Order: sequence, then structure tokens, then C-alpha cells
Amino acid sequence: MATRTRVYPSRLPAEFTLGQDEFIDGYLDAKPGEHISLIGPNGGGKTTLGMKIMGQLHRLYPQTTGVALVMKPHKGPRGAGRGVTGDPTVARLARALKAPITREWPLSVGQKTLHGKEETPFWVLWPRHSDDFRLDRVRHAALFESALLDSYNKGRRWIFADEVFGLTNELRLQSVLEHIWSKGRSMETAIVGATQRPAGVSRFMYSSARHLFLWRDPDADARKRYAEISGMDPKALVALTDGLRRHECLYVHPESQTLACLTPGGFLADPRPDNSTREGARPST
Ligand SMILES: Nc1ncnc2c1ncn2[C@@H]1O[C@H](COP(=O)(O)OP(=O)(O)OP(=O)(O)O)[C@@H](O)[C@H]1O
Ligand SMILES: [Mg+2]
Repeated sequence: MATRTRVYPSRLPAEFTLGQDEFIDGYLDAKPGEHISLIGPNGGGKTTLGMKIMGQLHRLYPQTTGVALVMKPHKGPRGAGRGVTGDPTVARLARALKAPITREWPLSVGQKTLHGKEETPFWVLWPRHSDDFRLDRVRHAALFESALLDSYNKGRRWIFADEVFGLTNELRLQSVLEHIWSKGRSMETAIVGATQRPAGVSRFMYSSARHLFLWRDPDADARKRYAEISGMDPKALVALTDGLRRHECLYVHPESQTLACLTPGGFLADPRPDNSTREGARPST
């Protein structure tokens, strides 16, 4: 008997396509404690979308606070000018969203007072990098772990883990991340996790996420992992993500089987054209 091959559409019908910003403002319905995962290759726009989501989550739930964990170097190449950082997207969006940068965790009393809870959508924890990355690994692991544990214990937090692969494999924070993915919901603490290297991240990043954003990824290992998203047809996800253009992503809400194609959003203007960083406290040396 001939088997019928199912044909999956490579694009969603036009009515399921909307702008990224319109989606964030009008449709994103992540409740405190619901994990969010952003998965896609280099340069797709994960940090951009993740930072915008962090701003919106605080607007939706002012009783929650957030912390974004940034692993890239806090400054760019020598001689490139004051204020140039290893991740211009983070620096620009932190300023645009009025999210203060801190180099330390826990926050000092001065930092907390300077930026009242109401106005601060989330903190950006972006540690300094020295000339020895081996020493930095130990120090950064301790800092990020402290922010993760503190967020879990206090509850009602959104943690933007921008590079889950690095936090897991370089800083060895897998067990604390998995603890939050599996038990954070009870504390209303959730991970907004992003990765460009799906092969090396915990299965919880797929199975425990209530909201997923997937970019087109030709990598075979990356595509295999769609099978770990509970309740979704992995072949349909492969076909749909294959139809995405650069900077577009597919929003997936497994519980309601909702899919939407998000087209690139607007560029949030930098309030400080000189590109200098804004820190929540006097810089520590
Ligand atoms: N929606 C968008 N529309 C237009 N440009 C975008 C959009 N999203 C991101 N970009 C641009 O693409 C570049 C990469 O964006 P971003 O840093 O957010 O990607 P990423 O996926 O986090 O990259 P990486 O994997 O290297 O961390 C930036 O220059 C950014 O301004
Ligand atoms: Mg990024």
C-alpha cells in the first residue's frame, strides 16, 4: 500500500504574520513563572527580541523585576573609543529601555536607592572582563550563580539568560538553570533563555518553555531538537522555520498550538548617540 507523504506548508497564512513589536505589545501573554526560549543562529535578533520582551514583562507585571545576564566582553577592542562594548545590541537597548547596568551582584543599597523599583524594568548584570579569561570564568560564574539563586529564592523575577550555551558549558551553571526551569514556576521566577547553539543546551530549554521563538536554522542537530517541544509536530516546525527570512522568527505556544510568524520590529533609538554605557553605580575598578 502506498504511503501518503504529508506536505507541510513553508509559510503560515498571511493572517498569522505580524510585526515583532505589535506581537510584544498586544499578544505576548507570558505569566510570571512561564519560561520563554529564543533559539536561533548567530545574528538573528535573539538579544534584540529578548531585551524588548524583558521591558514588556515588567510593564505587564509591575510586581515582577528582571535581571539580564550578559557574558560578552564589557568593552570592545582597544582604541575603538570609550564606551564601545562587546555587544552593542545590549548596550543600546539597555539605554533605550532604561535598564541600568550593574557590574556586581547583589546590588548595593546605593544602586537600589538610585534606581527606584518602579522605574527600573530590569537590571543588566554585565561583569567586567580582565585580561585573563580563566580568572573571569570563576568570578563570573559566582556572580551569575548568585543572581540566579537570588532570583529563584526571592521569586517574581524574569532572568534573561542571553547565552545559555555559555552559562552551561563555560561557567558550569547547568544545575542551577535546570532547577529554575523545573521549579521556578512555583516561585514565579522564569528564564527568558537564548542560545545560538542548540546542540549543547539542556532539554529543559525546550520541554519546559511555555513560549518559544525559533529562527531558521539549517543545522541538523538544531532541527532534531524540535522533537523535544512537547505537543508540537517537529516536521511542521522545520518546514515553517525554513520559510523564514533573516530576522524573522516563529512564535510557538505549545499549550494552545498557536503559531505566528513575527516580522522584524522597529529599531529602538539610542537615547545617547555617543554610545557610552550607563551604569547603575559608580564603576568598580
Ligand atoms: N528585528 C530586527 N530588525 C532589524 N535588524 C535587527 C532586528 N533584530 C536584530 N537586528 C540586527 O541584527 C544584529 C544582530 O542582532 P542581535 O544581537 O539581537 O542578534 P543575536 O541573535 O542576539 O546575535 P548573537 O547570536 O550573535 O548573540 C544587530 O545589528 C541588530 O540591530
Ligand atoms: Mg545575542
